Amino acid sequence: MQHTGEDVTTIQIVNPDKYLLLPVEEEAAESKLFINDGTGAIPIDVRLTQSTVDYYVPYLLNTDSKEITVEVKHPHSKNILWDKITQSNSFDKTNREYFRPVYHHSPEYGWMNDPNGMVYLDGEYHLFYQWNPYGSKWGNMHWGHAVSKDLVHWEHQGMAIMPDELGTVFSGNSVIDVHNVAGFGHNAMIAFYTSAGEKQTQSIAYSTDKGRTFHKYEKNPVVSADIPDFRDPNVFYHEPTEKWIMVIAAGQEVQLFSSKNLLDWEYESSFGEGYGNHGGVWECPDLLELPVEGEPGKTKWVLILNINPGGIFGGSAAQYFTGFFDGSTFTCESKPETVKWMDWGKDHYATVTWSNVPDNRKIAIAWMSNWQYANDVPTQQFRSANSVPRELKVYRANDETYMINEPVEELKKLRKNEQTYSAIIADRNQSFHIDSIIEDNDGAFELEIEFRNTSADVFGLTLFNEKGDHVDIHYNLSGKRFYMDRTKSGLVEFSKEFPAITYAPIEKAETYKLRIFVDKCSIECFDGDGKFVMTNLVFPEEPYNRLNFYSKGGQFEVKPVKIYKLGL
Ligand code: FRU
Repeated sequence: MQHTGEDVTTIQIVNPDKYLLLPVEEEAAESKLFINDGTGAIPIDVRLTQSTVDYYVPYLLNTDSKEITVEVKHPHSKNILWDKITQSNSFDKTNREYFRPVYHHSPEYGWMNDPNGMVYLDGEYHLFYQWNPYGSKWGNMHWGHAVSKDLVHWEHQGMAIMPDELGTVFSGNSVIDVHNVAGFGHNAMIAFYTSAGEKQTQSIAYSTDKGRTFHKYEKNPVVSADIPDFRDPNVFYHEPTEKWIMVIAAGQEVQLFSSKNLLDWEYESSFGEGYGNHGGVWECPDLLELPVEGEPGKTKWVLILNINPGGIFGGSAAQYFTGFFDGSTFTCESKPETVKWMDWGKDHYATVTWSNVPDNRKIAIAWMSNWQYANDVPTQQFRSANSVPRELKVYRANDETYMINEPVEELKKLRKNEQTYSAIIADRNQSFHIDSIIEDNDGAFELEIEFRNTSADVFGLTLFNEKGDHVDIHYNLSGKRFYMDRTKSGLVEFSKEFPAITYAPIEKAETYKLRIFVDKCSIECFDGDGKFVMTNLVFPEEPYNRLNFYSKGGQFEVKPVKIYKLGL
């Protein structure tokens, strides 16, 4: 090792091991590492340790290269603890995190944001994601990859698409080229992503071995523009016009392009000016046709559009528009000022759907975080998880079309045991306390609850533990709202934006059904008919293991409560 300048240090490695283990200190400033191992590798940013090692990240070395040079640039490079950098033939990926979800997808290590490139092929659901393999804060965007046969058991596949001279690899989606129009091969998996370099442009990578390896298209990028925020391509096939359509988020609108061969794209139209919420940049669009509930054979075009900031409870959120698409232009059917939210929590972002799913099911997944505090949530070995997969439909009400979000059927496979608690009748202002209700509890469970015969205006439940961490979940009928309050849910002080009360609009009904999914650090409340869903992160220092039902101003009845322990 040599200090070759005030801010440059060079390390020589002879006969390398498999991994260079880089020590990370999360609060340290980033160093830039130029690793010259003969493969033309792109520089990476790593928060190299200056006082303590929070964790290590592995850089895969080219073991065919006898001599490797690592040049490190850092304004105070002498402060780095150089002797903590080591080599090894193994990297320990064993989970060390208390808050790691049991049944939600999360990266093996490192930072994750948006789900990307989701596509089904030959019995496998592919889930790619924005990944930093060199630290648990945002940076060095790669596509990581996981595969599942049933949407609930995920197998890590490591790196899928790596940065290149055009830039790092931002969000996008994938399609299966059944008729080989692009010429990469029958059933090639074609991934569209944003190359984030000096400009944001749209690129292609393809795989002919079911997503295990990707090749970059030699004529990348395939779509460019002089717009600073121009990203997150979403491609689908439009049967009636026999064209492929690409939707790209462009500032505060979307632009639509079309192609016959998936390679050459022509501008068609733009949508967005004056419509919906414009509190931030539009990101991660998804234009799709959803089945209409109760009207067999009918469908409706829906444009999902993620926005940051400007979300209903601050920061990131997913809005959607319903309307018509003729193969060239999307027309919104609602008044321009109408804003429709897909999820009523604070931690549901970058929501997009799988393509090519059998039976034309439309299944979405969201990144369960919010840019307001995503980099600061109290985990280190990994950061962020995805929501449970949700099946999407629409229903009509009051001359409008709204989305239905239901937990996918496959989640029932996770149910390990069932406890049933008999019906509870609560009198006026009486609280019912059920002790130690959630047995054998590691913080991963589902509750099925049905309230009925409600004369009470306010009724609900509190989920809590002996430490006093609690989450209040209740209906307020006169206020026409469903609420979740996480202000005292556990660790909340890592960001002033984290403590929050979120609410969803509701209508008066005969019964109020809920399915609540809890998994270590998240709560997803689904209305029984899918008419609202609310996703919020929580960090209780021990699992919530008690339930308290309560009402204000009247009676209510709870049908036998079902509690399922969930596990893989
Ligand atoms: C959304 C987003 C995308 C972008 C990616 C970068 O969370 O900002 O627009 O492609 O994250 O990681």
